[in-house]
Amino acid sequence: MYVLGLWDGHDCGAAIVKDDKILVAVNEERFTKNKLEIGFPTQSVEFCLKSLEIKANDIMHVAINTSDVAKTLTRIFPAVKQHYYQFRRRKSKPAFVNLKREFKYKVTELPPNLITKQISKTYFRSQLQKLGFLKFKLHLVDHHMAHAAAAAFTSGFDEAVIITLDGVGDGLSGSVNVLQNNQLKKISDIPATSSLGIFYEQATNLLGMRELEDEGKVMALSDYSYKVPDKKNPLMKIFKVNGITIDTDLSSWQRYKLLEKVVWKAQNEDFAYMVQKVLEVKALELFKNAIKKTGMKNVAWAGGVASNIKNSMNVRKETGLKDWYVFPHMGDGGLALGSALYTNYLLTGTSKYDFKSIYLGPGYSDKEIKKVLDRNKKWLNFKKVTDIAKITAEHLANDKIVMWFQGRMEYGPRALGNRSILASASSKAVKDKLNVHLKKRDWFQPFCPSLLAEDAPKLFSDYDKPDPFMTMGYKARPEMVENIIAVLNVDNSARPQVLTDENPLYIKMLKYVQELTGFGIVLNTSFNIHGDPIVTSPEDAISAMKRGGANYMAIGNYWATLK
Ligand SMILES: [Fe+2]
Repeated sequence: MYVLGLWDGHDCGAAIVKDDKILVAVNEERFTKNKLEIGFPTQSVEFCLKSLEIKANDIMHVAINTSDVAKTLTRIFPAVKQHYYQFRRRKSKPAFVNLKREFKYKVTELPPNLITKQISKTYFRSQLQKLGFLKFKLHLVDHHMAHAAAAAFTSGFDEAVIITLDGVGDGLSGSVNVLQNNQLKKISDIPATSSLGIFYEQATNLLGMRELEDEGKVMALSDYSYKVPDKKNPLMKIFKVNGITIDTDLSSWQRYKLLEKVVWKAQNEDFAYMVQKVLEVKALELFKNAIKKTGMKNVAWAGGVASNIKNSMNVRKETGLKDWYVFPHMGDGGLALGSALYTNYLLTGTSKYDFKSIYLGPGYSDKEIKKVLDRNKKWLNFKKVTDIAKITAEHLANDKIVMWFQGRMEYGPRALGNRSILASASSKAVKDKLNVHLKKRDWFQPFCPSLLAEDAPKLFSDYDKPDPFMTMGYKARPEMVENIIAVLNVDNSARPQVLTDENPLYIKMLKYVQELTGFGIVLNTSFNIHGDPIVTSPEDAISAMKRGGANYMAIGNYWATLK
């Protein structure tokens, strides 16, 4: 029995699960090339069906999520959605911006009701009918339950406390849940009015960056600050953790005005630090309380706030937890899968999935790749090689940058070794070259490494376990800093992808790098040009190669170079 999950908001997408298998999952931006696309995910649905070679009517259950007032309004008036998308990405500035902002906070905090639920269902039914879905049951899942299900059921834990924290969805900004005896139960709501996610989003906006997109930049900038003591941090009193929920006396709009006052007086990096510190202190208190109350020491978390690696690292080190798990597509982009998982749980009782592979998107055979290469002969030299991993490793060891396009595409925001740009982890010069020519990232944003699990304890002092999804931060051993200088933050921490057996070809390449340089580690950044979504198809890859002026690409078993 197939269950199709859908998400039509920020970073929309689709996913299909069957029994205890996650079969396919993808986000619409991969096809439309509009980063973090919003709207009904038509192309994602079509891709999911095509890749499984099934028809719309083979699907009896469709899971949707989120029917709060704001989301429902965007379903009735798609123009609102487009307008907001342009505004949020700072592509256009509307008139009466403050008035609209105040209104936005008020509306987005409203929970769902019977009418919005009905309208949302009708909207999905009509969209699905256009795609040939005629006989199916529609299941509406709560926003935070979808986040929680994603974290709980892919964590591998039998028992765990599950925490979700994000901006807002279905009237909440978070939840605390318990996974026990194959049951997922919510034990606490965190209201939308006291949202740590919205607070961080507001700070991102006030620093002149894009909400829901550049929060990672704020976190990275905070590392460059003078360490403002908590007592002198005027933002520290905004939120109060009350057991396993969060309260506040200020409305979202009042918080925005307070942040505006503080940013006006502070250096940008100090402001970023104060905001980050509020998140870390309050989240730590919440997580500690949840562990204490449930007596469970395995913790899994999801929701947009889970993308904050410094916060996750703090939770790992300071709460006394035994084991941790962060759902890798933690933001709303993961809701399609989350709602499918929750619905499948209700229908079949499935509460555990073997989630080792995140390579759930489109893949291309050598034959398909060759056709595209042939069409680009004017620009490219290419040859089929017997060992693509070896030639790539040799170039990386020689301080060359290599575009790496292999297998099925990753699900989620990170490139995890199938659509990656790779470089030496020890060369600052190569890192700078990569930044100037291809990625154009802000100077304070670090790059991340991929490495073999066997090398992780040698390089990181607080290493605990492999993480194939790049969701956790670790500190480099002081004596190892020079060896991995291109993949460290200014505080010598890193967000590594640590591999055991998830991606054999990528691991093979890392083993060659280990033979050549001493450590099986490379710089791994997403295969895209600044501002674009990650490349999906061979066409996208070649286009990015041409535009970025990169010289080498390992695409399938083909080694391609620019003429
Ligand atoms: Fe969310």
